[in-house]
Amino acid sequence: MKVLGFESSCDETGVALVDVPEPGAQGVPTLLAQALHSQISMHQAYGGVVPELASRDHIRRVLPLTREVLAAAGVELADIGVIAYTQGPGLAGALLVGAGVAVSLAAALGKPTLGVHHLEGHLLSPFLSVDAPEFPFVALLVSGGHTQLMRVDDVGQYEILGETIDDAAGEAFDKSAKLLGLPYPGGPHLARLAEQGDPAAFALPRPLLHSGKPDFSFAGLKTAVLTQVKKLGEGPSDQQRADLAASTQAAIVEVLVKKSLLALKNTGLKRLVVAGGVGANSLLRQQLNTACAKRGVRVHYPELSLCTDNGAMIAMAAAMRLQRGMATLQPQGGGFEVRPRWALGSP
Ligand code: KG4
Ligand code: ZN
Repeated sequence: MKVLGFESSCDETGVALVDVPEPGAQGVPTLLAQALHSQISMHQAYGGVVPELASRDHIRRVLPLTREVLAAAGVELADIGVIAYTQGPGLAGALLVGAGVAVSLAAALGKPTLGVHHLEGHLLSPFLSVDAPEFPFVALLVSGGHTQLMRVDDVGQYEILGETIDDAAGEAFDKSAKLLGLPYPGGPHLARLAEQGDPAAFALPRPLLHSGKPDFSFAGLKTAVLTQVKKLGEGPSDQQRADLAASTQAAIVEVLVKKSLLALKNTGLKRLVVAGGVGANSLLRQQLNTACAKRGVRVHYPELSLCTDNGAMIAMAAAMRLQRGMATLQPQGGGFEVRPRWALGSP
């Protein structure tokens, strides 16, 4: 069966088509085609996502991207079995675009729809890579809005081991990058600038590092970066900016690595899955790989291009639920709701 998936929770419009073996049949879902439009350049002028502009752009992009995906896969609309969409969490107006298009298309085709949790999409995105993980595993979910460590026993079986009490890791990257005068979204820019810098140049805090629990706090780090930026005054040198970027990245990565190791130790699991935008960070990947290799832990990542938001992860999460017979399909023609503040694991 073919599952069409839409992602429109924030600043990326993603559409993808996945082929799912029938429930009970062997085999894993396969990605047939996907297309993505990033709104980053549009929001850059404002230093962050402007929700109204995001919604309007999703409206402009979603149907051309859908046509592109169907053409690339050589699949007709009539061949689609289920239409999945990101139901939450995310920006309400942006979510409504994907949900509205999914539900109307499904009504026209006489097919059911399936609302998908955005974070479940991230969490299951490594199943799209050639080196797919096996359950159970510890998941480090690090996106722009979330930082969580989870025990994952199967699709839908998630136990939160710890999470941030304030800012997310991606937010720490983005806010620090902004203070350094880098464009939105700052994470990748800060990482690039950090390559020229000395990570030991500035002593920045590692909040909750020794709390003994797999929890996080990044708000203090941003304040510490602000203090250093102020101290450097009007004209910091390129080297000073690179040093501060490297020191910031080192602080965030050290905390993420230490807490992941703690969660692995506490659960006794030997498999780690890293998902979400910050999972693209190469220092994080390097340090996790080294630390986990020493402990006999296998680490899995999504493909680099699937770390940030995309439609493939939404179609894949829907496919994995369908395959296990655990999807609550909405019949065509019904109403729909989006859930901007949906917590993973809540019904
Ligand atoms: O998962 P995602 O695309 O969106 C959310 O669901 O939030 O994550 C976006 C976040 C942003 O904060 C972005 O700066 C960060 O991921 N990010 C990175 C890198 N690439 C993306 N942070 C650090 N290093 C990177 N290479
Ligand atoms: Zn995301």
